Amino acid sequence: MAIPEEIINEIKYKNDIEQVISPYVNLKRRGKNLVGLCPFHGEKTPSFTVYPESGSFYCYGCGVGGDVFTFTKLIENLDYVEAIKFLAEKSGVNLPENGYDDSMSRLKDTIYAINRDTARFYHEYLMSQDGKWALDYLVGRGLSISTIKHFGLGAAPDSWDSLLKFLKEKGYTVSEMISANVVGKSQKGSYYDRFRKRVMFPIINIRGKVIGFSGRAMPGEDKEGGKYVNTSDTPVYKKSENLFGMNFAKNHCDERIILVEGNMDVVSLHQAGFQNTVAALGTSFTMEQANLISRYTKEIVLTLDSDAAGQKAVKRAGEILKNTGLNVSVVSVPDGKDPDEFIKKNGKDRFEALLDGAKSEIEYKLLVAVKDIDIDSDDGRLKYLTKATEIIAESNDVLTRDLYLGRLSEKYGVSKSSLSLRVDELRKKRIKAQKKKEISDIIKPKFNSNDINPERRKYPGACVAEEAIMTVLLKNPDFFPEVKEKLEPDKLITAFNRRMYSLIYECLLNDCMPDISYFGEKLDTRELSFLVSLINSDSVQKNPLSVLKDSMKVLDDERLKIEMQSSLSNEDWALNMQKLIEQKQKGN
Ligand code: UTP
Ligand code: MN
Repeated sequence: MAIPEEIINEIKYKNDIEQVISPYVNLKRRGKNLVGLCPFHGEKTPSFTVYPESGSFYCYGCGVGGDVFTFTKLIENLDYVEAIKFLAEKSGVNLPENGYDDSMSRLKDTIYAINRDTARFYHEYLMSQDGKWALDYLVGRGLSISTIKHFGLGAAPDSWDSLLKFLKEKGYTVSEMISANVVGKSQKGSYYDRFRKRVMFPIINIRGKVIGFSGRAMPGEDKEGGKYVNTSDTPVYKKSENLFGMNFAKNHCDERIILVEGNMDVVSLHQAGFQNTVAALGTSFTMEQANLISRYTKEIVLTLDSDAAGQKAVKRAGEILKNTGLNVSVVSVPDGKDPDEFIKKNGKDRFEALLDGAKSEIEYKLLVAVKDIDIDSDDGRLKYLTKATEIIAESNDVLTRDLYLGRLSEKYGVSKSSLSLRVDELRKKRIKAQKKKEISDIIKPKFNSNDINPERRKYPGACVAEEAIMTVLLKNPDFFPEVKEKLEPDKLITAFNRRMYSLIYECLLNDCMPDISYFGEKLDTRELSFLVSLINSDSVQKNPLSVLKDSMKVLDDERLKIEMQSSLSNEDWALNMQKLIEQKQKGN
């Protein structure tokens, strides 16, 4: 059963869209609306628009849109019902205890419970006599008992079914355990614990819930399953959207966040006092992870190996971070060590010093660029200067550019003015290319209605008419009687619009208000975004009634055209045409 409409309306009323969105997006007023940088895709010029009047938002860059519930769902990584609960709680609205849980949110709750019980099971085992082998290992790596408890670290016994038995006793079904991905099913159909004889790192989300695990093999025992076994994506866990350590780091990162590669690095750095450290969970750094970080801090420090793989990772992360507005700097840990080893050997002050000397991304790139070039030869020097000016041209800050150009000119004995001439040229080209891209991004957004309605190309005229009709009805539900008899849903030409229209039709037939939250649960994000774009479009502002009537005529004509075309091959086409013309005359 769904949550009662009155309650949804009350929650919506108490959660003003501007107030809900502004903690996540820096909004500026533009006329009666507000704009800001879209939190769902990287962009430099704001195309994310909030419409207080219709209680909705829409991004012209990526085409995502919805209401307060949709926004919360996307930004907090929740499902629809969870988002409603989230906002209810925030605004002090009481939800009835039962009667609104759908089966997916029940399953999620069960998975959270399984994860919590599993984390306890692993932790208790680690602290017990039987888990001594694992505790010895962790303590041997320099972790204190209080750090182990802080992170809730654990160990999985060397057994195929001890967790399974434990969870069974707690009353969970095997299929629920499989959904949580702590138990697997073999090809022969038997069930087994996924994590065996491993040190266990629970992964905890920003709201403090255990969402998955990362299990490290004992040294030399990583043949089966690899060094780490990780939870695969489950209904509560998406690797690409989470960061290990973020549950703690989010409270300690006003200044900056440190991104490291390994789980062990996170634990060890937290213990040394760097509680602002996180790691990507065995994936390469993703856009979603970058966006999560950018919601909490201004600066990110990448600590990465100075080997080729590390450099590649920096480059990739740099690309992703470029559009988030975060300042990026890079620390390369000396001697090919990871931060965990470095801090153990050199202490936290040395690490602090390393961080303070964190090179700006430019400095780091310049350093990397020089690596394979022989700068003692004129040829090599020229090559390097060509590369270096390209790197410097990427900076949008004139002082930064000036600083590095000065250094280059001093170091390589070329005049600063010739270097800056080249940089200016490169920048002109770049800005031109960027403008072009921005324009084409606006005209051809990534996830716009062209993608969502595959028949648009085939029936462009019909599409426009269908959309105009829906727009009018969404904005003026009182015109429903105009279409109720004359335009039943099956009369629409394109299948996608037919589906959208039939939802609107049904809504109006039942005397409901066609606002966004009415459709929220019935549609996926893309479909909902489409409706939001109609609701907020200013295409039908004047004379909506005549637009409605005209569009219905257009649709009739289009339908006639289609029917004629399909009857052309028919021998009785003349007869058919006669019939169609008669029909049309009757219709008018
Ligand atoms: P590392 O091999 O650097 O691991 O991999 P680590 O955490 O520093 O472990 P120690 O210090 O050797 O004990 C970095 C990260 O890559 C992911 C894990 O998230 C790991 O923390 N990884 C690595 C996997 O997911 N699977 C693997 O097989 C290896
Ligand atoms: Mn390591």
